[in-house]
Amino acid sequence: MDKIFEDLSKLERYPKDQDVNLRPYDAADELVLEYLLQHRGAGVLIIEDRFGALTFNIDNVVDVVTDSFISFHGITKNAKNLGRELRPIKKSLEDVKEWDKIDIVVFKVPKNMSYFEDVINFLATKLTEGTEVICPAMIKHLPKTVFEVLESNFGKTWTSLAKKKARLVFGKLEKNSVSRLTKYPLVVNFDGFVKPFTNYSNVFSRSKLDIGTRFFLENIPTGYRRILDLGCGNGVVGIKAKLVNPEADISFADESAMAIRSAKVNFENYFADEPITFWTNCFDSEFHDEKFDLILCNPPFHQQTIVGDFIALQMFNDAFQSLERGGLLRVIGNRHLNYHIKLKQIFGDSKTIASNSKFVIIDCHKR
Ligand SMILES: C[S@@+](CC[C@H](N)C(=O)[O-])C[C@H]1O[C@@H](n2cnc3c(N)ncnc32)[C@H](O)[C@@H]1O
Repeated sequence: MDKIFEDLSKLERYPKDQDVNLRPYDAADELVLEYLLQHRGAGVLIIEDRFGALTFNIDNVVDVVTDSFISFHGITKNAKNLGRELRPIKKSLEDVKEWDKIDIVVFKVPKNMSYFEDVINFLATKLTEGTEVICPAMIKHLPKTVFEVLESNFGKTWTSLAKKKARLVFGKLEKNSVSRLTKYPLVVNFDGFVKPFTNYSNVFSRSKLDIGTRFFLENIPTGYRRILDLGCGNGVVGIKAKLVNPEADISFADESAMAIRSAKVNFENYFADEPITFWTNCFDSEFHDEKFDLILCNPPFHQQTIVGDFIALQMFNDAFQSLERGGLLRVIGNRHLNYHIKLKQIFGDSKTIASNSKFVIIDCHKR
C-alpha cells in the first residue's frame, strides 16, 4: 500500500490552476486499489479514471477508457511526469478490442446516470459470464440508480464496507445478454428544427432542449464566416449558426467525446460539409491557435461534481485569445451568475443584448 500512496501523492490535477485544496484522487480510488491488491494479475478495464490514480497503480491494465478530455490529458500528463509508459487511452468503449482479457472492470461512478446506464448496458453485452464490475464512489455521490442499473444488467450486486466516506459497489455478470438493451443514443426532435438530433448518453440536455439554449437560439447573429460553438453539447447552437450563416465554417469544441460525436453526426445530417471538431478543455491555447470571427458559448457550471464558474471563466479567456481583432464572443448565462463583470475584465467591454426572467445574453468584442 505504501507504494500506491507514493504514486498518488505525485499526481497532479489538470488544469493545474484550479483550487489547490482539490486532490487528484479520492478515498474511493484508495478503496478500490486496496481491494485489487488481493487480485493481482487479473486483467482490468478502467473506465473514467480521473487523473491516473487507478491507471498507474493497477497491476494488469487491459485498457483505459474515458469520455473526458480533462481526464485523458490529465492521465497523459501524469504519465510523462512519473516516467510511466502509457498505452493509448480510448475515448469510447467501442474502441476496446481485447474483451477476452478482461476479468474485472473498474468504472468510477460518473455524475451522469444516463451515461452510467449506457456503459453498464454495453458491458453486459461484451463481457463474459462471471466478470466482475466494481464501481467506486464517494457515498454522497452514490445514487440508488447505480444499484438498480447494475442489478438489472448484471444480476446480484453487493457493496464493500464504507471507508473514509467511500464505498465500492460490485456486480458479477450472471449471464451475458444477447442484445444491447440500450435506449442510447436518443433520437429527439426539437421545436424549430426540421430534422431530429442524435444525442449520445453523456451529452448535456440529451432528451430535450435546455431552456437557456432555447433562448440563445433566438439570438444567433448573422454575417460571420468562422464560427466556434464552444461547449457544443449536441451541436444545436452551431447548427443554428450555420442555418443563419450558410457560408460559414463551423467548429465545435467540447470536453466530452460523446458531445463531439453527437455534434458531428447532427451537423452532417443537416449539411453537406464537415464541421471542424476539437475534443479539448475550453479552448486551451496549449493545443490551439485557430482564430474565429464569432464564438458562441453557453458555458457549463460544473465539472463532474465540482460546481463553479471556473470553466466559464477559462472559456471566456480562451475565447478572447481565439478571436480575431473585431471578433465577437456571445455568451448566455443565468442572471445571478453576473458573467458581465468577468467579461468586462477580460474584454474591457460587455453589453447585454437580450434578457428574460432567467437568462442574459452578453456580447463582447475583441478590440
Ligand atoms: C451548458 S452545456 C451547453 C451545450 C450546448 N451548447 C447547448 O447549449 O445545448 C455546456 C457544455 O460544455 C461542455 N464542457 C464542460 N466542461 C468543458 C470544458 N472544460 N471544456 C469544453 N467544454 C466543456 C459540456 O460537456 C457541455 O456540452
